[in-house]
Amino acid sequence: MTIVVAVDGPAASGKTTLAKRLAAANGLRFLDTGLLYRAVARRLLAQGQEPMDAAAAAAAARSVTADDLDPAALKAERIGEGASVVAVHGDVRQALLAFQRDFAHAPPGAVLAGRDIGSVVFPDATLKLFVTASAEVRAKRRFEELRREGDTVMYERVLQDVVERDRRDRERAVAPLTAAPDAICIDTSALDIDASLAALQEAFDEHAARKPRKT
Ligand code: C5P
Repeated sequence: MTIVVAVDGPAASGKTTLAKRLAAANGLRFLDTGLLYRAVARRLLAQGQEPMDAAAAAAAARSVTADDLDPAALKAERIGEGASVVAVHGDVRQALLAFQRDFAHAPPGAVLAGRDIGSVVFPDATLKLFVTASAEVRAKRRFEELRREGDTVMYERVLQDVVERDRRDRERAVAPLTAAPDAICIDTSALDIDASLAALQEAFDEHAARKPRKT
């Protein structure tokens, strides 16, 4: 058995950065599962197809490989928006399941960041964390990041996008964004990145590090 840590949470909660650092600190591999949905959206947009087109999206999902997961190529807001649209299709989610499960199976295990890792992809994960923060705090963090990169976007616009993305992720029929009943919730609204990481590490030490590994 390998260690699987699920780190779920809404857009711009910091879960990806935190999950990546948690993995590095504990010798586990890391997968940002949002990149899978982004890769599907990017492929469709490049082919002039609509993210709402379920059949085209499922076909794109079936052809995604590790080579498609370059974060720099998938960063654009347009691709993120498209990702949250393709993510509503059940066939897309089904097609991406095997990739996620295969990734985590190799020892010593992995940390996966996403929306439905603890609820659907790994219902029996070693540890489930749900990282969140208020919509205003998440929008502010994203806004500051965009400004640092030279974007002149308005805060109100970023907040609107965060709220809209939350709504789509929470309300979709298949695998909606939700904290698994046995997940530990970590609200980072009042925490900086180091304090947030310390909270995740504490949960890891308490619930995962001492679990026996059968490899
Ligand atoms: O995390 P990121 O912003 O890269 O994810 C982009 C979109 O992909 C999310 O808004 C969500 O709709 C979708 N997603 C998902 N399930 C995951 C990861 C991402 O539905 N495990």
